[in-house]
Amino acid sequence: MTIGGQRHRRLPCHECATQGRMEAEMDLPLGKEVAQLMSAMRFRNWHHVMLAAGCALVLSLLVSSHWQYAVSMDAISGIKSQRDRMDRLDALLISLLDAETGVRGYMVTGKDAYLEPYHASIPEIQALIPIIRKDAVEEAYPVEFVAGLEEKVATKLNVLATAVAERRARLGSSEGQGPGKSAMDDIRYLIGQMKQKGASDADGLLAESIRAVNLTRWSTIALGVGAMLLLIAVFSLILRQFHLRAEIAELLQGENQRLEAEVSRRTADLTAMATYLSSVREQEKGRLARELHDEMGAILTSAKMDASWIARKIDPQAMAQIRERFDRLVTQLNHGITLKRRIIDNLRPPLLEELGLTASLQAMVDEFRASTGLVVIFDGPEDADLGISGDRALALFRIAQESMTNVRKYAQARSVRITLSRGHRNVRLEVSDDGCGFDEAAVAGTHGIAGMRYRVQMFRGSFVVNSAPGEGTRIVAELPIV
Ligand SMILES: Nc1ncnc2c1ncn2[C@@H]1O[C@H](COP(=O)(O)OP(=O)(O)OP(=O)(O)O)[C@@H](O)[C@H]1O
Ligand SMILES: [Mg+2]
Repeated sequence: MTIGGQRHRRLPCHECATQGRMEAEMDLPLGKEVAQLMSAMRFRNWHHVMLAAGCALVLSLLVSSHWQYAVSMDAISGIKSQRDRMDRLDALLISLLDAETGVRGYMVTGKDAYLEPYHASIPEIQALIPIIRKDAVEEAYPVEFVAGLEEKVATKLNVLATAVAERRARLGSSEGQGPGKSAMDDIRYLIGQMKQKGASDADGLLAESIRAVNLTRWSTIALGVGAMLLLIAVFSLILRQFHLRAEIAELLQGENQRLEAEVSRRTADLTAMATYLSSVREQEKGRLARELHDEMGAILTSAKMDASWIARKIDPQAMAQIRERFDRLVTQLNHGITLKRRIIDNLRPPLLEELGLTASLQAMVDEFRASTGLVVIFDGPEDADLGISGDRALALFRIAQESMTNVRKYAQARSVRITLSRGHRNVRLEVSDDGCGFDEAAVAGTHGIAGMRYRVQMFRGSFVVNSAPGEGTRIVAELPIV
């Protein structure tokens, strides 16, 4: 039931509790939501950084896979060339062995058929030598090795050629073919077939490796590109979500502001209406008080004067007969006059205008103490020190009046304390009792407390009721001085 700057963040302090609740329902959750969305927006840049990092990772994956591919391909082609070079060396050796074997066969048998491998080997050897030299130039093996090899091969061929020439010169040649020669031809043919098969298998394996490396390379590229696209898609989704959230936050904020403006406008309307009604009520009370005072007061006073005149003029014997009725008439008239005065006092605080708020409250407290027998403590500054306008003084007086009436009607209190004090910028009235208290939430549809609150709102002050069953009641009203 608090109205004031402390409880409400945005509405000015004078706005009412109902509207305060409206605001609490509308403003605070929306405000929180908006704040959360706004703070989430601040992290949007991080997503750019994360996307860049993700793309960089994927790119480095692609680069490293390409590098691995190049290395593997180099290794495979290196292995292949190495194998070719070994094959050439093997072929050279085999050709030399063939030539030697052929020459040996010829030397032993004298048959020209044995020289066939020798003759076939010479062009082969001559073709191989430049290729092996080229291999050496490509740094497969030291050039001096090849030079040495060439020299030795030439020497060997010379030796063989000399041996063949000498043999032929000495003994001549004969036609025909020995069984050893044809067996050797078969062996050579079979080994040639087997080597071809082995070479083609090795080629197949190498081709298989190249295919696997290529497959790995393309699948890595496909996966990397896919991951990058996915990353970009996720990022654009997140970005879209952020944009949507920002739009929603903007809408919420706009709606919030609109509602706040609406609440402020309605509050201003209500305050203006309450001010108007209150002043009309006060005017009406003043008019009634004047009528009662002038008309009824005059009638009662004149009736009382007439009664006194009758009492003086009437024959004492006749008076004795009506004495009892006459006295009752005078008593009733006195009651009427007292009642009239009390009603007037209630309608228009008699001392407020003449003596000020403190004196009026003091008078009310005295009357309250006398009529209830409760302990009533009043504490207030000199009126001259209060320095508040007449309408503010009247509002505080009415609040004290209603509070005291409630104490009288409901509190069952033993003591009441009323404190009026002046602060730097406001005047504060507190009425507290040690009575039965009440459940604030259970109060509805009454006008006393609501009236107090509206009076405070008229001056943009704050109003608090603290009460709970068994714990007394405390009412605090604070009005700004200007
Ligand atoms: N000092 C108090 N001690 C105990 N209960 C109180 C006190 N002041 C108010 N109440 C409780 O709060 C309720 C609301 O008070 P409020 O002055 O608004 O209305 P009311 O006095 O019942 O009616 P009205 O003032 O309109 O004639 C009361 O009915 C009463 O139950
Ligand atoms: Mg009341």
